[in-house]
Amino acid sequence: MEFNFSVNIILKDVITKVDSRLQVCRNAGARYQDARQRLFEIIDTMGDASAKAQGLPGAITTGRKLELSDHHLYVMTDPEGKEGLGAAVGILKIGRKRLFVYDRHGQQWEMNPLCILDFYVHESRQRMGCGRRLFDFMLKDENSCPQHLAVDRPSHKFASFLAKHYALRDEIPQVNNFVIFNGFFTKRPDSD
Ligand code: ACO
Repeated sequence: MEFNFSVNIILKDVITKVDSRLQVCRNAGARYQDARQRLFEIIDTMGDASAKAQGLPGAITTGRKLELSDHHLYVMTDPEGKEGLGAAVGILKIGRKRLFVYDRHGQQWEMNPLCILDFYVHESRQRMGCGRRLFDFMLKDENSCPQHLAVDRPSHKFASFLAKHYALRDEIPQVNNFVIFNGFFTKRPDSD
């Protein structure tokens, strides 16, 4: 996804973690408002594209929503895109949710697991390993592992992605929109 400004000036790394503190904008010093506006344009445009790709009526991810939440958004760019100005490639939004989760024996647990809330790689870059790179970065950064995550309504492509890269196939049935897999209850950190 290309913009009429330099993405590289706002997002200096290939993968940047953005949270409500908008640290990448604070780094811009006196140009904070300008940087915030451009960052929001990147996030809002990618959020819209993600919603479209998933057939959703509205965006799950916007800059404003992020600013008002305790969610984390990982944004992937291609620094070489648009003749060196950089392009946005993908987004991955995660956050903790208080959920009632059923185990295999039908017992219900109140938990606070890390959830995958939105995941999108631009159509021109899908099936090239970008999603895997973004997802692995997030797992390392959050010190988590794939089987401990809850996924909010995974699409067909995302379900296929999880099966292929992390062997997550065996779902434990739930009554809410979140999907969890075998291994979800094993060796969880106390914070969950
Ligand atoms: N059809 C089926 N499976 C696909 C497709 C597709 N068109 N695209 C990717 N995948 C899955 C497959 O398992 C694929 O492996 P394969 O090519 O050997 O079949 C694997 O993902 C490829 O892995 P990556 O290249 O690392 O993943 P990619 O960069 O394509 O990103 C993603 C995966 C984010 C799911 C991307 O396909 C996408 O943006 N899809 C549209 C939006 C979407 O569905 N997002 C998830 C919504 S649910 C949620 O966010 C909680």
